[in-house]
Amino acid sequence: MTTITLMLAMLFTLACSVNSTHPMTRSTSKTRGNSPRLRSAFTFPQAFSNLKGTGHLDTKALHDRYGSVVRISPNALSFNTAQAWKDIYGLKKDRTELAKDPNYYIKGPTVQILTADQEEHARIRKHLAPAFSDTALMEQESLLNQHFELLIAKLKQQVDGSSQGRVDLMAQYNFVTFDIISDLALGKPFGALESGRYHPWMRNFFEAIKFLGFIRFASIYPLAGLLFQVTQRLMPSLSAKRRAHLDFTEKKVQERLKNGTNRKDFLQYITERKYDTEKQLNEEEILGNLRVILTAGSETTATHLCGATWFLLTHPTALSRAQAEVRNTFKMPEDMNLRSLSKPGALPFLNAVIQETLRLYPSIPSTLPRVTGPQGSIIDGRYIPANISVGVHPWSTYRSSSNFTAADDFLPERWLPAEAPIACSRDKKDSLKPFSLGPRNCLGKSLAYAEIRSILARVLWNFELQLESESEEWFFQKEFVLWDKASLWVKLRHRRPTLADDVT
Ligand code: HEM
Repeated sequence: MTTITLMLAMLFTLACSVNSTHPMTRSTSKTRGNSPRLRSAFTFPQAFSNLKGTGHLDTKALHDRYGSVVRISPNALSFNTAQAWKDIYGLKKDRTELAKDPNYYIKGPTVQILTADQEEHARIRKHLAPAFSDTALMEQESLLNQHFELLIAKLKQQVDGSSQGRVDLMAQYNFVTFDIISDLALGKPFGALESGRYHPWMRNFFEAIKFLGFIRFASIYPLAGLLFQVTQRLMPSLSAKRRAHLDFTEKKVQERLKNGTNRKDFLQYITERKYDTEKQLNEEEILGNLRVILTAGSETTATHLCGATWFLLTHPTALSRAQAEVRNTFKMPEDMNLRSLSKPGALPFLNAVIQETLRLYPSIPSTLPRVTGPQGSIIDGRYIPANISVGVHPWSTYRSSSNFTAADDFLPERWLPAEAPIACSRDKKDSLKPFSLGPRNCLGKSLAYAEIRSILARVLWNFELQLESESEEWFFQKEFVLWDKASLWVKLRHRRPTLADDVT
């Protein structure tokens, strides 16, 4: 036992001394000051943290102890300030950007928006952007409304049906957001709302999330990566499922391109504008990017809807206030449309709930890393040497008491200037960037807000809601890049008539 302890101590000392040659260790004392020893010497603490699904908590604990910049592994720094968002993700004066960390954004055979380098990214984004403009959103409204209305109709059926309103809202939110995105991206919805079941494509997607922790672990440890590959070969069902998953998308896109449509789906916009024929997206690139959009634009929105619903149901005063606001603003459900819901000044409290949920339950809680340039970079006032992985850690940033007063509390009022508690005037609201910023920020931000407002407002308008006891602890989840969410069990009842209803 003593020998093993001695050997471990020697290994640790050796690792620390070897590591002292690392450029980050040799850099300014300001950076070195925030280096937990074990993290500076080894990658395994970070890798295990990712594997266990506790990365958000572990990184936050390091920030709480060491401050606004922390060395989370030998070659990686985590930041938690508004300035770091700008320095890491913003476009520089010379029009360059920090590249995406290639160990995290692993490139596949097809060029796609998330992993493309700066030049390719600009070309792809230029072709995709028209599908996400405000004009496009208004043109897509009737298509979106069909899905919103179907969701409400299906929920009403469940209130009247044998389940007597006991509903897993996590599943229902997944159904509606995945149906919307498949309708827009593939020309047809998955039909999950209609059937009340997960489409196999969705089931594969959710199964894959559980592997993300391992894939991140494997990208750090090549031996684990090799094991993963061997396991995949030995378990043909895994690779067969992956193939079927990819084939499904390919077939749907090919069908949609062949048949054409009058509907204003994404492909209409992507294929109708001709900027520069040489640089058009080819069919393979269109497919690769639609695959990204299918996942980027569904789970993230469903996650936020679940979080906002859970916060409201665990804060009854906020629930009553949000419900009253929606019901007083819209006398009839038909009055709710994209324009009326997003009108400046409309639904201030609901919008504050949405912001507060983005803060307390970011759909992407972990760092989206970039690498410093060949000359190094200045981040949050510090010089960081070349080729270091850097990023802002959303969970730590949004829950840091240096950025927000009562950082762990659900306080939508902090976003309402006239009502914010005085202590919240010190909040650094600029540190909340749930859709990132700069040239790689979220392309679907307006669509996401439109879906979130439309769905939450309709659910609050139509139903009385109560959290079922087994979902009281729903919030406490593991994260594997995305949250590993459990079912969100809620009891729904038809809306109670109000005095105003009787009068009209
Ligand atoms: C609450 C919902 C959402 C959140 C929190 C969110 C968040 C983000 C974030 C943080 C990024 C930056 C990724 C990176 O740096 O690698 C991003 C990128 C992106 N998002 Fe979203 N997103 C949401 C909804 C959507 C929707 C509805 C769509 C489309 C239908 C969408 C499409 C995209 C695309 C295409 C990118 C890549 C942009 C680029 O690289 O230029 N997202 N999103």
